[in-house]
Order: sequence, then C-alpha cells, then structure tokens
Amino acid sequence: MTAHPPYVIDEMISAKSIAARVEALARDISDHFADTDKLVVVGLLRGSFVFIADLVRELDLPVEVDFIEASSYGDSTVSSREVRILKDLRSGIEGRDVLVVEDIVDTGFTLHHVIGLLSARDPARLEVCALLDKPARREVDIRATWTGFEIPDEFVVGYGIDYGQRNRNLPHIGKVRFE
Ligand code: IMP
Repeated sequence: MTAHPPYVIDEMISAKSIAARVEALARDISDHFADTDKLVVVGLLRGSFVFIADLVRELDLPVEVDFIEASSYGDSTVSSREVRILKDLRSGIEGRDVLVVEDIVDTGFTLHHVIGLLSARDPARLEVCALLDKPARREVDIRATWTGFEIPDEFVVGYGIDYGQRNRNLPHIGKVRFE
C-alpha cells in the first residue's frame, strides 16, 4: 500500500448536480435505444459502480447489467498506457445492444482498448456513456457518445472514483489538492 502525502478535497460537482445530469443522460440514452429488446449495460470497474447504479435506475428500458475490469492507475495518479483486462464480461454481446459506462475518460487509452475488444464481438450497437471527460489530457482520439461533465485537468475523487482506493464513498465529485 502506497502512502499518500496529505491532501484535502475541494467540492467540484455537487451530488444534486450529478443527480440532475444523470437523469438527463438517462433520458437521452432511453430515447436512443427506445426500440431495443434489452440493453446490456456494461460498467467498467471499479470507478463506474456508483454511476451505473444511479443510471440504470433512471433508464426507461429493459436492461441487463454486466461488468468488465481493466487495469488502471493502481495507487498512483499517473495513467499507464498499457491496458489489461482483469475481468471480462459474463455474457456474450454478439448482435446485442451495448452501452459501456465509464467514470472518466482521461488519456482515452482504457476506453479505446475496451471499445476495440467489445466491437470485435460484433454487437448490434455499441455506445459509451462517461460521467466525466478531461479533454485536455486526451492522447487517443476517442469520445464517449454521452458525457456527464467536461472537467479541467484535475485529479478527482468521489461518486465511485478513488485515489489509492479511498474516497469512492463521497456523494459528490471533489478535486484533490495536496497541502
Ligand atoms: P485513461 O485510460 O487515461 O482514459 O484512464 C481512465 C481511467 O483512469 C478512469 O476510468 C479512472 O479509473 C482513472 N482516472 C482518470 N482520471 C482520474 C482521476 O482524476 N481520479 C481518479 N481516477 C482517474
């Protein structure tokens, strides 16, 4: 376990703003997939677990929930370019409608890798909903279909998102400030 220097968390997006945005995203997604027989909602572990829980409860569609886990920052605040799949989907997605739910698109390496992997399985439709986007940090040209909030280049925590496995349980999104 890595020791972290002391830091404080400044609120960036309130729980109320997140809830309003999640509701709006769910409306757009429900409209887009209105004719689906069942949408496979794929959460990218672990950072998306709070977001996906709130999002699926606002979707006006038949859904199935599955998870995939890719390697991430570990205990650091620096992204690694090499993406490995630590846990794959339980269900097959060939010919099915799929929505990937991601917490943050940062450099874009994770999403690029996961989209490549899932597209190769020939889903009928494959779209992405990301809660946060840090466009200033992008290294791979990729975008989510729907984005909750664009944020500046800050390290954030809360609403499922961690710093060294801490702060996932904050109800809002805050930025980490080292003292
Ligand atoms: P990417 O591959 O660089 O786009 O990284 C995406 C993943 O890195 C996200 O799914 C997060 O798990 C993690 N990440 C990116 N930015 C932050 C942050 O500000 N706080 C915590 N985790 C982050």
